[in-house]
Amino acid sequence: MAKQIKIKRISKLTGQIIAPADKSISQRAIMFSALAQGKTKIINFLDCADCRNAISAFKAMGIKFKKTQEDNQTVLYVQGNGLHGLKAPKKSLYIGNSGTTMRLLAGILAGMEFETVLTADLSLSKRPMKRIIDPLREMGAKIFGIKRNQQEYPPLKINKSDLHPIKYKMLIKSAQVKSCILLAGLFANGKTIIKELLKTRDHTERMLQLFKADIKVEGLNVSIKGNQELISPGKIFIPGDISSAAFFIVAAALIKGSKITIKQVGLNPSRVGFLDIMRRMQADVKILKKGAKLNLSEPYADIQISASKLKAVTIGPKEVAYCIDELPIICVAACFAQGTTKIVGASELRVKETDRIYSMVTNLKKMGANIKSIKDDLIIIGNSKLSGAVLDSYGDHRTVMCMAVAGLLADGITVINNSECIDKSFPEFMKILKSITELT
Ligand code: S3P
Repeated sequence: MAKQIKIKRISKLTGQIIAPADKSISQRAIMFSALAQGKTKIINFLDCADCRNAISAFKAMGIKFKKTQEDNQTVLYVQGNGLHGLKAPKKSLYIGNSGTTMRLLAGILAGMEFETVLTADLSLSKRPMKRIIDPLREMGAKIFGIKRNQQEYPPLKINKSDLHPIKYKMLIKSAQVKSCILLAGLFANGKTIIKELLKTRDHTERMLQLFKADIKVEGLNVSIKGNQELISPGKIFIPGDISSAAFFIVAAALIKGSKITIKQVGLNPSRVGFLDIMRRMQADVKILKKGAKLNLSEPYADIQISASKLKAVTIGPKEVAYCIDELPIICVAACFAQGTTKIVGASELRVKETDRIYSMVTNLKKMGANIKSIKDDLIIIGNSKLSGAVLDSYGDHRTVMCMAVAGLLADGITVINNSECIDKSFPEFMKILKSITELT
């Protein structure tokens, strides 16, 4: 059902919140637990639409899950069935809107003894899959998408095949592609080696190590040995998602008098590009207490943000991959920063849940911002005065949350239509926002 969010200017953000669990890590935890020997307790699991779609797919392949609430956190128990324990699903697997699930799962299914079809919602059906199909085919996979304009799109049909290891030089900076190949590598007889252009988020490598996979990381090279069982570590703790925390970090940095603490924010070095950029913009971000719970392979800490005067930055193509999911909210920060912000070489933003260059330029312009795109670059002249407007989500969760933050600083009322897509990663966004503002 179509939902509408209405936002008005607030005076400040104050108080303490807990960052919602990390989506990338939660999705990997589902998949690796399902393929492992033994039972895994996933503590602080993110109960969102993308994760529910991943669970449904594995349920249809015989994996048993139990979701409970313990100590105010969602806990997911997964009974693994071993590397070759998935059963042929009775019908096609519907992945909804989740690009991570579709691309990682395709790597797993390429190694199965049965045939599967992965279907998607309208948005994911328009997202490019050749980036995973090409390397999987090189490994011997029989995988077919819908061909259009030299690209391939979902639904994906994956037939039984024998996978062999490859050496693959990534031409695209994508953790989903890297993870897909690593997962297919689990089913190939021998060592699969990947060379990245630059280090993308490494949750797969870290978690596979936790599951005792034979995986090695040396600089930009990752190698994995196939045909070895994964062993459940028993318990995994999922830290908070810096990409979700980013909306509150920007809001508190921008709104005078604000001071908030966000607890247990994931600070994996491959994900903190956004914080580096915020600091370069002169944001006042302090790392407080470091986390000391389970699996410290994913570091996290409490962070404190106080309002300050932000300055414009230039973000080059090399940095884009380190803050890809936070670039839209950086655009909002840039509207209020002093000077001209340039984001150069952001073509990957065009193939997210929506074309995020288009959604941000269109929505922010409607509010009166001075923002334009030239090809895949963004130029934002700061110190804008924004006014409330009627905006659209374009079916994209991060676009909704960005526009909500912009609405907190705008005159009048900001209306965001079709905002139900927020459930994809952060169903509690409005509840948490209300808890640290005067919004009711
Ligand atoms: C993700 C990787 C990134 C990111 C996405 C989640 C992951 O996508 O944008 O939200 O979980 O591996 P790409 O691999 O396409 O850059």
